[in-house]
Parts: sequence; C-alpha cells; structure tokens
Amino acid sequence: MSQDIHRVCVCGAGTMGAGIAQTLATAGYSTLVYDVHPAGLERASQQIRQQLQTAVSKGKLHSDTAEKILQRIEFTDDLQACLADLFIEAIVERMEDKVALFNQLAELNHSESIFATNTSSLSVSQLAEQVQNPARVIGLHFFNPAHLMKLVEVITTDRTDPTVFDVAWTLIASIGKTPVRCQDTPGFIVNRVARPYYLEAMRLVEAGDISPEQVDRILESAGFKLGPFKLTDLIGQDINLAVSRSVYEQLGRPERLKPSPLQEQLVRDGKLGRKTGEGFYRY
Ligand SMILES: NC(=O)c1ccc[n+]([C@@H]2O[C@H](COP(=O)([O-])OP(=O)(O)OC[C@H]3O[C@@H](n4cnc5c(N)ncnc54)[C@H](O)[C@@H]3O)[C@@H](O)[C@H]2O)c1
Repeated sequence: MSQDIHRVCVCGAGTMGAGIAQTLATAGYSTLVYDVHPAGLERASQQIRQQLQTAVSKGKLHSDTAEKILQRIEFTDDLQACLADLFIEAIVERMEDKVALFNQLAELNHSESIFATNTSSLSVSQLAEQVQNPARVIGLHFFNPAHLMKLVEVITTDRTDPTVFDVAWTLIASIGKTPVRCQDTPGFIVNRVARPYYLEAMRLVEAGDISPEQVDRILESAGFKLGPFKLTDLIGQDINLAVSRSVYEQLGRPERLKPSPLQEQLVRDGKLGRKTGEGFYRY
C-alpha cells in the first residue's frame, strides 16, 4: 500500500465510482464514496456487495475477506464529511461541475490532498488551472468495468507536482492496476483511438444498411471483445456522447469525428444503456 495515502474519497457513485471504490477497498484502502444522490450511493453499495458475493460464490474470495472489504467502504451524501488524502472524482463529464467540486473539497481538506480526475476527455490542464492548488491535480483514467480492467491512464499537466505523480503512480500499482503515462491530449490514448470505432459503427447504422446487433456480432466474430453498440451501452450513452463532443471540439471539429445524431437521440430519450435499462439494447 502507498505510505502517503491513508484514506481515499471517490466522488460520484455511478458506473465508474462504484468499481473504483471496490478496487481501492479490496487493496486495503479506507474508502469513502460521496454522491449528491442517495439513490446512487445505495445502488453502488448493492453493486459492490453483489460483485463480491459473486467472487465468493466462484471461490475466488473468502467470505471473511469480502466482509472486510465492505467494512472499509463508507458512503455519504454529505460533502462536509469528505476528508481524505486522495480524491478521485468520477462525477458527470462537465468541466464546471468538476471544478466546483475540487474547489469545495480544497476548502475542507489539508493542502497536501491530491485531486485526481477520472475524466475521459476533458483537459486536465484546464481543470487544474481553475482550482485552488493546480500542483495537486492529476488525471487517473480508469476503464470500465473499473474493478476488472487493469489499465489506468495517468495524466500530468505542466503544473503537476512530481511528488503527486509519484504518489499517484505508486497507488495505482498498489491496487493491482497497470499505470501508463499519457499526455494531456483530447481523449488521451484509448478514447482517442477508440472514437472512430463507435462513430463509424453508428454511421453505418444511420445509413440504414445494417442493425446494431449485426455490427456487434460481426465485430465480435472478428476478434473485438465487445461490439461498439454493446460497449457504448456499458459505458453509458450520455458519457460516450459527452466524450465524443469534447474530443470533436478540442480537435477543431473534424468531420470524421462528428458526434452521431443517432446517439444524440438516444440520450434525449433517456436511453443511456445498461444504467437506465435501455440503450441500443434492452436490459
Ligand atoms: N462510463 C465509462 O465507461 C467511463 C470510463 C472511464 C471514465 N469515465 C468518466 O468517469 C466519470 C463518471 O462517469 P460514469 O460513467 O461513472 O457516470 P455515471 O453517470 O454513471 O455516474 C456519475 C455519478 O456522479 C454523481 N454526481 C454528479 N454530479 C455530482 C457532484 N457534483 N458531486 C457528487 N456526485 C455527483 C451522479 O449522481 C452519478 O451517480 C466521467 O467523467 C466519465 O467521463 C467513464
């Protein structure tokens, strides 16, 4: 475990927050999960419990260990209770919300606390510039599902304190993940490269020649683990669209990365994927 980090607070108990919290607690860290919506906290708590129970029933985890992991996680909707050495925010993909949250947390916490963002596409440098202590800001981009996926992109800015990088890197390694250092460019590495995978697939379906199910089946039979439609349903259509828009804007609106009207319609209809029970598929 990291010598510098005793308590971590994960902000946002959605798709990513729950998995990140589970990973941290499994690695032995005292973990607080904060969300503005109590229902989100309840869902995250149930999801973590369920994941651990599955691991126990498969014989991968002892039930006593699962209980200890659960005991390390607390949940709160009270911002004042958010005191920690490291914050990992996984809230909505909107710059102003992330800035506001980090500034509120900075008021409550000691000057050595680290503020990590799990943003998929927003500029970590721009975020850092707008918060109290830019040197304490870093990007820690986990992948979905966070309790299983090994890769974490670590994004520094010109102002990130090298000690903050060292502590964050050590922490990521200590939770069994594989850190990779990235430049603060739109979409970093994985989301930048993956953008055409989603967008081209949506364009094919928009053209009316093929269905999402057919595209997924064909891509999966070609060796991709998940077809683009199943994958965006897992990610969340709102999040995937926000990332597409952000990368598109930051790269100067290239035609090839124009967000998909089909996906925009899904988001308007509240069909966000697995988390709402319907996206390109029904769950
Ligand atoms: N979904 C993915 O596959 C994925 C992968 C990597 C990174 N990310 C990034 O992680 C972040 C979260 O994505 P997600 O898919 O978990 O979103 P989500 O919609 O599943 O969950 C977001 C949660 O944040 C809460 N929230 C919103 N504003 C808040 C605030 N001000 N304070 C506290 N809680 C707040 C919401 O109530 C919700 O529970 C985004 O920045 C996204 O780009 C997502």
